[in-house]
Amino acid sequence: MIRTEALSKEFRSRGARRVQAVDRLDLTCDPGEIYALLGPNGAGKTTVLRILSTLMDPTSGEAWVRGHSVRTEKAAIRALIGFVSYETRVYERLTPREIGHFFGRLNDMARAAIEDNLAYIFDLLDMTEFADERTDTFSTGMKQKTVLMRALVTNPLILIWDEPTSGLDVLTAKRVIDYIRLLKGEGKTVLFSTHILWEAEKLADRIGIIHRGRLRSEGTLESLRARTGLGDLEDIFFSLVGADGEAGGR
Ligand SMILES: Nc1ncnc2c1ncn2[C@@H]1O[C@H](COP(=O)(O)OP(=O)(O)O)[C@@H](O)[C@H]1O
Ligand SMILES: [Mg+2]
Repeated sequence: MIRTEALSKEFRSRGARRVQAVDRLDLTCDPGEIYALLGPNGAGKTTVLRILSTLMDPTSGEAWVRGHSVRTEKAAIRALIGFVSYETRVYERLTPREIGHFFGRLNDMARAAIEDNLAYIFDLLDMTEFADERTDTFSTGMKQKTVLMRALVTNPLILIWDEPTSGLDVLTAKRVIDYIRLLKGEGKTVLFSTHILWEAEKLADRIGIIHRGRLRSEGTLESLRARTGLGDLEDIFFSLVGADGEAGGR
């Protein structure tokens, strides 16, 4: 469903400092799978997900979403995916319902279909109460839900989700986690990034451990255990990224 081949991204800041954010990364995410890209801050997770969402071009290498190239078939990919990021801003002058209609129409959806989807999503995410309020007064959690709603209104087959629970209170985070499970039940493919080990452990069919732009290991929790001879995901994680992992060390 999603595949990257020697995917690389180098950033060059004006001070000529180069950062190899993604370094010859090969990963595959199968249809209907929940895949967790797990790594410390600065590992390159957001950059990978932005490339896969066609928001940014790789420096070298390739990636495909359902066979479409992220370099040359951006429109086809955008029609298939929903990209959710805690960094996404919401239009402050609009209400969630207006934002939903705007994005639905951008994707050529009929008004009635947008309304049906919105009713379902508002109910599911407990948004009905504020669906017709302008987002400028929203809490972080309400804004996050609005960003999620925006990605879901088009009923995407694939969800690419950067740090799903970042900035959320525990209750909302739990709803989001439950929701990811529900999406899997609906046959969707979910690729998400996280630096929280238990999130990957709880949700993912397969885990890709990324550090300094490189994939250190990939597989089910069982296969990661077997490969490293360690039982606990935390131990596996530190054996692969080293003790500097949390610091992001770059
Ligand atoms: N737009 C950018 N310009 C320069 N460097 C960047 C940019 N975006 C990310 N980086 C750098 O690339 C590396 C990977 O960042 P990122 O993909 O955001 O990691 P993560 O999401 O895993 O925390 C970091 O060293 C970060 O500072
Ligand atoms: Mg990030």
